[in-house]
Amino acid sequence: MLKIGVILGSVREGRNGLAVAKWTTEKAKAFTQGQEVEFELVDLLDYELPFLGTKATAKQEEAIKKWSDKMASFDGYIFVVAEYNHGVSGAFKNALDFLNPEVKDKALAFVGYGGLGAARSIENLRMIAGQLAMATTQTNVNLSLMTDFEKMSIFKPADYHEGELKALLGQLINWSSALKTIR
Ligand SMILES: Cc1cc2nc3c(=O)[nH]c(=O)nc-3n(C[C@H](O)[C@H](O)[C@H](O)COP(=O)(O)O)c2cc1C
Repeated sequence: MLKIGVILGSVREGRNGLAVAKWTTEKAKAFTQGQEVEFELVDLLDYELPFLGTKATAKQEEAIKKWSDKMASFDGYIFVVAEYNHGVSGAFKNALDFLNPEVKDKALAFVGYGGLGAARSIENLRMIAGQLAMATTQTNVNLSLMTDFEKMSIFKPADYHEGELKALLGQLINWSSALKTIR
């Protein structure tokens, strides 16, 4: 059984990311019914990580361990990411900096969203993923606050994104299976 983590990287109060992450997880489960793959939504907000390098309290040490163990438990990932100033949010970059062996030689796909979509944030993350030895899929889903949300806050994705998500899942599952053999 392949385990894929759907990782919500936004912690902003009132975030749009939660609806996108739930849609991604529900659709991924529906589109892969009968396959040997399972999906779990992981919310960064559930992990009260310190800034990397600062002195962690005992509670924060626990959060670091919990985050590390959770991320290590997956064979592949879908990062659900917004665009913040043409890049990844600070909170998510900080969380990724705690990881290395946990995600090494694993596959990664992106579902991005933002004012104009999240193309720049996703490309930013591909560089970071390269350094973490993760294999990023060619296809991503790119959602715009202008066309896939009502009033920029009520998530109503255009139908064609389902086709993109199906293509993304095919690539992610293939690579997650392949990379499992070399770990
Ligand atoms: C500090 C900040 C910077 C942003 N920069 C961009 C940007 O460069 N490009 C873009 O398309 N959207 C940008 N946005 C819009 C966000 O992508 C959008 O608000 C998104 O919903 C944020 O994710 P969240 O709601 O899950 O926190 C920015 C939003 C914030 C708060």
